[in-house]
Amino acid sequence: MIPILLSINVDHVATLRNARGGSFPDPVAAAHLCLAAGAEGITIHLREDRRHIRDRDVERMKAEVPAKLNLEMAATPEMVAIALRVLPEAVCLVPEKRQELTTEGGLDVVKGGHDLAGTVRRLNDGGIRTSIFVEADPAQIEAAARIGARCVELHTGGYADAQPADRPAHLARLAAGAKAVEAAGMLCHAGHGLDFDCIAGVAALPEVSEVSIGHFLISQSVFEGLPSAVRRMRSLIDAARRPQA
Ligand code: PXP
Repeated sequence: MIPILLSINVDHVATLRNARGGSFPDPVAAAHLCLAAGAEGITIHLREDRRHIRDRDVERMKAEVPAKLNLEMAATPEMVAIALRVLPEAVCLVPEKRQELTTEGGLDVVKGGHDLAGTVRRLNDGGIRTSIFVEADPAQIEAAARIGARCVELHTGGYADAQPADRPAHLARLAAGAKAVEAAGMLCHAGHGLDFDCIAGVAALPEVSEVSIGHFLISQSVFEGLPSAVRRMRSLIDAARRPQA
């Protein structure tokens, strides 16, 4: 099976920093710790309201952290201009509402709006690998391929939040979605809500080549430290990936 790249979302290190208005804790320092503990990628979400990651963090992350940088952002002209200036390796387009606590659902690519196709084209032309965050819905996946996305990130929130008895049905939907993404010629990523209890199901899907994990790992690091939490997640992913005897 192809290996899974673990991308850690360090937004909530910035949330803690901003709570006191200073420079500690530094999301760039956290990113270095994540890489040393076995992550290969760093994800940051530059929100319109800058509630956690700020413009300077994006620039520093690109300049100072030797990782694959994945910038989550809304499909707006302001964000596209920032991405084309900073040039992260990857952009993941997400829906964004001012009042939400976190990204609440996948983008509605079928409905379109926000000149999604033009946004994807501009980012692709700028040499950035463009991904779209969608529910595991065949129509959304087809629409993402149609507008030129190189990659789809499947929303795992429904699976992660489900009661254990309901998870197999959610996982079956993700598995079918992952196959559809691959069949459409795109890379398949997955993320949202993943933790130690539910990562194995997603990590065992052969088409998934990257997972993005934030809130759980940053929170768990309060109890055991960031390097330990990242190392444990890395080994759970690797174990789920090994062929079962
Ligand atoms: N993927 C996307 C597209 C997201 O918007 C988020 C949340 O910022 C994540 C993954 C990570 O989710 P979580 O913080 O629940 O691990």
